[in-house]
Amino acid sequence: MTRQNIGSNENKNPAAAARGSQLASDFTVSVHYDSRLYREDIAGSIAHARMLGRQGIVESADVDKIVGGLTTIAAEIETGEFVWNPELEDIHMNVESRLFELIGDAAGRLHTARSRNDQVATDTRLWTQVACSRAFEAVVSLQTALVELAESHIDTVMPGYTHMQRGQPVVLAHHFMAYFEMFDRDATRFAQAAESADVMPLGSGALAGVPYPIDREWVADELDFNDISRNSMDAVSDRDFIVEFLIASSLAMAHLSRLAEEMVIWSSDEFGFIALSDEFTSGSSIMPQKRNPDFAELIRGKTGRVYGSLVALLTTIKGLPLTYNRDLQEDKEGLFDAADTVITALEAAAGMVSGMTVDANRMRQAAEKSFVLATDIADYLVGKGVPFREAYIAVSDLSKQCIENNVGFGELTLGDFQEVSDLFDEGVMEITLDTAVAARNVPGGTAPKRVRAAIEEAKQMLAETTQ
Ligand code: ARG
Repeated sequence: MTRQNIGSNENKNPAAAARGSQLASDFTVSVHYDSRLYREDIAGSIAHARMLGRQGIVESADVDKIVGGLTTIAAEIETGEFVWNPELEDIHMNVESRLFELIGDAAGRLHTARSRNDQVATDTRLWTQVACSRAFEAVVSLQTALVELAESHIDTVMPGYTHMQRGQPVVLAHHFMAYFEMFDRDATRFAQAAESADVMPLGSGALAGVPYPIDREWVADELDFNDISRNSMDAVSDRDFIVEFLIASSLAMAHLSRLAEEMVIWSSDEFGFIALSDEFTSGSSIMPQKRNPDFAELIRGKTGRVYGSLVALLTTIKGLPLTYNRDLQEDKEGLFDAADTVITALEAAAGMVSGMTVDANRMRQAAEKSFVLATDIADYLVGKGVPFREAYIAVSDLSKQCIENNVGFGELTLGDFQEVSDLFDEGVMEITLDTAVAARNVPGGTAPKRVRAAIEEAKQMLAETTQ
């Protein structure tokens, strides 16, 4: 095979030519994924049909037949009886075609004063709102799991890290509550994305509105939309609301993947801070001792596909002339995949958080066998009137000596302290991990009493959310 003759058989080969025409038709088909819009599609059609009847645009006998037929179709889809035909391209044509089979000519009146362009935009907005509220609920469950775990570790001291180096002591609850905050912003973003999706395009027709006396407000009410779109040309071609959902999902995945990464590190033999429950780990096929944190790794790993969907859609909509273009059909697979991914990842993370066991002793030891009290010792000198920078140098010298002699601050005598500064007195011997965390008694600090209050506030917020 060379570049010259590769593919050259195609013209002579009828099978290859047939594959070619098959490809041409498959290329435009979307029913294998947009069938997921069936609930929204049928609800939208029923509301539209009823409105056509109320407005005297379609006779009520026909409306009844249409509504009856659509209800049957919904049931057929639910039970799996419905036969999807890829030749009919998408969900909308499949439903319409079945409606003809069921009720005959009256089916032809449903698409009065409507286009697939305002129809699909309406369906997708309804679907996105459901996805937003499911994601929101999944975020809240994860937050609840984090708060519960935090509550039992208000006095569990561990090293807090910067640059993955032990920095200052914190309580484990404070660490988990940091994630609570991240997910709280995610919850807000999902709620905002739901609000953006909550605008009804139906009535925009193909692009310019429709020449019938329709009642858009009535349909919006039926479908529980808060608003109707103000400009038909924008309404049929706007997919910003999906971008917003994908941004919310991407940030949630970013946060989940940070949490997942810590679970991977913390459950390693090197750290040994936590053990993940069996449910969220799996064995190795050749190394019998292993408990791999597969769920955490997959949460981390699946982040990429959600970012991918965001970038894909941003790229799809860029440079599209008004109004609807078929490019916009590419909005849905990324939306569906991102929703599935972020919701399951949130659920898995909640399960992992609830099921993990914490080795509080091991965490405390990690803090003890380190120099995380260095800042507090320097602060002690500051309390004696030494400028912070000078105190910093004294304690830095002290820790260098400790490292050389392979001892920790805990093993130093008052005399050792006084060698680097004669301002050290008995009080320095009282600095411990517990006094250090308690001293960070500022709003947002790691002092156990502040963390306890933060947890109380969080529980209050969650109670208000889930009411
Ligand atoms: N399947 C199409 C989509 O998802 C529906 C709208 C088709 N409109 C059209 N003018 N071809 O975008």
